Amino acid sequence: MIHKILLLGSGELGKEFVIAAQRMGQYVIACDSYAGAPAMQVADECEVFSMLDGDALEAAVKKHQPDIIVPEIEAIRTERLYEFEKQGVRVIPSARAVNFTMNRRAIRDLAHDELKLQTANYRYAKTKEEFDAAVKEIGFPCVVKPLMSSSGKGQSKIEGPEGVDAAWEYGISGSRGDIVEMIVEEFIPFDYEITLLTVTQRSGKTLFCPPVGHVQKGGDYQESFQPMPMKPEHLKAAQEMADKVTRALTGTGIWGVEFFISNEKGVYFSELSPRPHDTGMVTLANTQNLSEFELHLYAVLGLPITEIQLLKAGASAVIPAPEASPNPPEYEGVEEAVQFKNTYIRIFGKPSTRKKRRMGVAVTYDELGTDLNVLRDRAKAAAATVKVIVR
Ligand SMILES: Nc1ncnc2c1ncn2[C@@H]1O[C@H](COP(=O)(O)OP(=O)(O)O)[C@@H](O)[C@H]1O
Ligand SMILES: [Mg+2]
Repeated sequence: MIHKILLLGSGELGKEFVIAAQRMGQYVIACDSYAGAPAMQVADECEVFSMLDGDALEAAVKKHQPDIIVPEIEAIRTERLYEFEKQGVRVIPSARAVNFTMNRRAIRDLAHDELKLQTANYRYAKTKEEFDAAVKEIGFPCVVKPLMSSSGKGQSKIEGPEGVDAAWEYGISGSRGDIVEMIVEEFIPFDYEITLLTVTQRSGKTLFCPPVGHVQKGGDYQESFQPMPMKPEHLKAAQEMADKVTRALTGTGIWGVEFFISNEKGVYFSELSPRPHDTGMVTLANTQNLSEFELHLYAVLGLPITEIQLLKAGASAVIPAPEASPNPPEYEGVEEAVQFKNTYIRIFGKPSTRKKRRMGVAVTYDELGTDLNVLRDRAKAAAATVKVIVR
């Protein structure tokens, strides 16, 4: 029952996962490229190294001999995970899933070409010439994203011909890893977007959390809310797509499957992450019998999840840093913020700031049936009450 878990990436999502793991007596080694990362603060041991360095990754695996590897971020030398899996280490959800999802191209080709899921029209471009041609074919407005990037880095929307060069330059500057390639996507004027948190189990059926609606700015999540009301046929379509794509990728764990919903044109698959999703932090408001982090842990440990029950309606809003500093900030206004009804403030304890870096979150809940706008406003008001004072 007690496992040694090597956590690759130690951000706020990792921190909540470790807290869930500690409550079940697990032994966790938290890894990241900097010391004092959120998950390290609650883990049994920690290691600081670049997880993009395959040899350093292998050295950590050799040293700790984990039973299970749980990736928390994309920036990992993921090819190496296949070797560890062969050696008998369980990779969550699977080496295949982690590998596919670190590159937008692999997952998009799987979803669109193989599984025939509806997606936005898209083209790939490796050079400026290919990029110009791709933009021409897709038309305006279109969205540009590096194949390898995260949290909106290098992403932009092109409204017309005058924006093409800048979007290319910005995409290049935001690329991560050895691959510099862009995806140019048709802009979908969706009515709303959701994350469908999906749980695949070792034995037992695939389960879905009630849909999480969210709002993104500059490719970064600002607020989320649950349960997002959906037409039953759209929810069903999204669940079927999530089932197909997670089945094709194989493995056990929670997945954040992202969809755009057009009331008229239906459900578009966008992307997915094979781990807890930032918008799923709304489940920290006790909206469900098990939070997304507890669900992930259960799936990781092979503990059966019989049912996901929605208990409350909830909302989350992020607390960003105003500017960059190498020092840990101070937080003002928490005394006021915790006085909002049914509201919790979670401070991640990050040791430094960047402009707009997510430093904490406000989550709030109320009885099922409560107007989501009331909850969203309350979460945003509580989050805005907390001031990150950079030092
Ligand atoms: N083709 C598109 N049409 C409309 N909005 C989009 C499109 N692609 C991305 N977006 C917006 O940008 C956000 C981030 O894009 P996403 O592909 O999820 O990148 P990331 O990996 O950074 O989360 C989406 O949640 C959505 O709000
Ligand atoms: Mg996304």
